[in-house]
Amino acid sequence: MSWIDRDERVIWHPYTQAKTAGAALPIVRGEGTLLFDEVGNQYIDAISSWWVTLHGHAHPYLAEKLQAQALELEHVIFAGFTHPRAIELAERLLKHLPSRQARVFFSDNGSTAVEIGLKMAMQYFHNQGKPRKKIIAFSEAFHGETFGAMSASGDHAFNTAFHPFLFPVTRIPAPVPGREAQSLAALEEALADGEAIAFIFEPLVMGAGGMLMYEPAALDAMIAACHRQGTLCIADEVMTGFGRTGKFFASHYLKEQPDILCLAKGLTGGTLPLAITTCTAEIYQAFYADDRLKTFFHGHSFTGNPLGCAVALASLELLEGSVCQERIGAIAARHAQFREEVANHPALVDVRQRGTILALEFKTPEQTGYFNQLRDRLYQFYLKRGVLLRPLGNVIYLLPPYCITDQQLDRIYAVLAESLEVFGVSTPQGSRESTVQHNE
Ligand SMILES: Cc1ncc(COP(=O)(O)O)c(C=O)c1O
Repeated sequence: MSWIDRDERVIWHPYTQAKTAGAALPIVRGEGTLLFDEVGNQYIDAISSWWVTLHGHAHPYLAEKLQAQALELEHVIFAGFTHPRAIELAERLLKHLPSRQARVFFSDNGSTAVEIGLKMAMQYFHNQGKPRKKIIAFSEAFHGETFGAMSASGDHAFNTAFHPFLFPVTRIPAPVPGREAQSLAALEEALADGEAIAFIFEPLVMGAGGMLMYEPAALDAMIAACHRQGTLCIADEVMTGFGRTGKFFASHYLKEQPDILCLAKGLTGGTLPLAITTCTAEIYQAFYADDRLKTFFHGHSFTGNPLGCAVALASLELLEGSVCQERIGAIAARHAQFREEVANHPALVDVRQRGTILALEFKTPEQTGYFNQLRDRLYQFYLKRGVLLRPLGNVIYLLPPYCITDQQLDRIYAVLAESLEVFGVSTPQGSRESTVQHNE
């Protein structure tokens, strides 16, 4: 029996309607930017396999460090115990984070990193005997799959079944170009009663919401407004972290600093699931007490997993190196060139870019968003041409591993240009309402 048949008997795939989606494509090998199927077809992974891969698939240096760690210490309980790789990783990472970040809390994935950030913020006020009630988030946000993360994400059809179980969140429009003043005014109104615990946001690029982008100055004004009211700011850098926006972290574009940061995806270069939530010394101090009830009672079985930490250290080493930094700059420059070439294409509503992330928004006669019909047709079109691109409805984006070659980028741009001719329609743009999508 083939891999496809065996898969179809036993596997339930994420974000997939099995009845209509068609079979999953078995991938048997990866190398650099390429994925290979069982009959030898190759695909350029232009989306870093859900935004995780930084240095390429099956990277020999990451594999070597992983193997060495597996032979030394594969795991140890992280309550009451510690280990060298976690300490080294925390020290090394803090050097790259905004200067007020002082403490590192480990978990396993982006959703749990967010969940922990929200819980830390809530308990920070509780522990000081002045609990607050409100979380503020962008209407177009995506923060993950767990209940806190779903609550803080935009109101979307995906979460309909869970709506009765989500906690209320005050939603404000994101400050996309032209909407900065409206967004800031909505935030100030939400802050006015002094009840806001935290404002959570994806800095500068809102991924699953359709790769919406906004300027650092807009976010600076919002963070400053929060701090005037003592409201904590949670930067969800799960997608934007580790060079994607052209700087090590998107927060580096800001003058103001977040209080809590959430990291996952690229943390291990895409090799193992590991996440980190960091916070300031002030937040940590609110939990540091003789009163045991002030403890942060949160921990996962694999918290601080040594294998994940060892690979994350190796990945950071590569990321800090000049070869990787030069590639990040080169990818951003080539994206900018292609962006200019297609900027006025009649098939597009908008082309936007921040660093290595490039997004093309197709005109469509339908409502824009995740369920847009173009999505499946574009996905198959690109795949047949050997390029893995996973459109967010009518938004196509590139988020490649940094090892991608110029030739591979040229191939992707050529396929994108071809799709503009094949799928371009000159109808007026649809509404941008309700564009919150997944993790894809
Ligand atoms: C900004 C952001 N936060 C959180 C998450 C959730 O991460 P994970 O899928 O690892 O749970 C995602 C996933 O796409 C994300 O883009």
